[in-house]
Amino acid sequence: MIAQRPPMGWNSWNTFGWKINDELIRQMADYMVAEGYRDAGYEYLVIDDCWSLKQRGADGRIVPDPEKFPHGMKAVADYVHSKGLKFGMYSCAGARTCAGYPGSYDHEFVDAQTFADWGVDFLKYDYCNFPASGDCKARYLTMSMALKATGREILFSACNWGQQDPGTWMRQIGAHMYRSTGDIFDNFRSFTDIAKSQLDKLCMSGPCCFNDMDMLTVGMCGNGNVGIGKVCTYEEYRLQFTLWCLCGVPLMMGADLRKLAPEYKALMQHPDLLRINQDIECRAPYVVRRDSVCVGNPDPQPGEPHWKHIPDSAFVLLRCLSDNEFALFFANTADQGAEVHVELADLGLPATGGVRLQMRDVFTGEVHEKVADSFHPHIEGHDCKMYLCRLEKE
Ligand code: GLA
Repeated sequence: MIAQRPPMGWNSWNTFGWKINDELIRQMADYMVAEGYRDAGYEYLVIDDCWSLKQRGADGRIVPDPEKFPHGMKAVADYVHSKGLKFGMYSCAGARTCAGYPGSYDHEFVDAQTFADWGVDFLKYDYCNFPASGDCKARYLTMSMALKATGREILFSACNWGQQDPGTWMRQIGAHMYRSTGDIFDNFRSFTDIAKSQLDKLCMSGPCCFNDMDMLTVGMCGNGNVGIGKVCTYEEYRLQFTLWCLCGVPLMMGADLRKLAPEYKALMQHPDLLRINQDIECRAPYVVRRDSVCVGNPDPQPGEPHWKHIPDSAFVLLRCLSDNEFALFFANTADQGAEVHVELADLGLPATGGVRLQMRDVFTGEVHEKVADSFHPHIEGHDCKMYLCRLEKE
């Protein structure tokens, strides 16, 4: 069985776009192993768009670009497999991919067989150039069936950008993960908007079919293919990774692993964060609080107070984990720092419960103890805190 937990891996698109080739993919496989990503759980190495020629071959099959992949795709797959990794590729439900290469519309069965013949273990399936007359759900079902017909176990990563409320039908058609939003860009606004848009939809994500909030941009620092906007800080990337882990969504890295700064490698291999992401119960987070933070108003106009509210910037999320543990996440997406207050009663812990809350700060290792009351950590702007928690009787 595949996709029992959120799939983890690396995808070429965010950094490399069309600049992909055999040597790059082999190097990335080497780095995934040598730098510990494979052992941390990152298992799929996925080639995104732009790997083929613009026309199909005389036999109707998609042809790998011989300049980019001179040894063909089977050789790449064999190399990836020899490293103990799984190999992913990309096609599109439309007639052409987003970058204009052949798509699988009306070619689903031959393409699925081609991928299976090469040893593909994961198919990302995009949605560009889908005919106006086409039936989206039926075509994703068709590719799902075509993959089954190969007899090979292939993870079906359906990428229709959240069209037609995918959480309500992707599980039924056999997808193992489904993109729920438009493309991520390497800036704070892009990934916080994505996460905010999915918080009330994650209850449909779980074993065998996960909500895919798109590939990570952690550590890209403005380099690559999706770097639009202000370059992120470490804390902003930490917020992205922590949120993806808390939400229990797939972790597909997008940065150039060959050039990744050590703090980002440590972040994406953080044992506690990965344990939360991969928790066996695969529960979605519970939204304890989602509202405004109150920050100082440095320049009040006559009659205005010395403080202001920044809407939709305070988040307190709770995620129940296995073995009586739970995670508690605080975020402040406003530009300035603020206290993010929570009443313990809102976590299901009224004073009458007679319990002590044991909290371990996942980033610093600090341990706090709280009896039922309230908790109000100061969170810097664009930053977050994550605690692993247990309860003890007083
Ligand atoms: C779409 C997808 C991206 C990427 C590109 C490739 O935009 O959403 O993730 O696969 O196509 O062209």
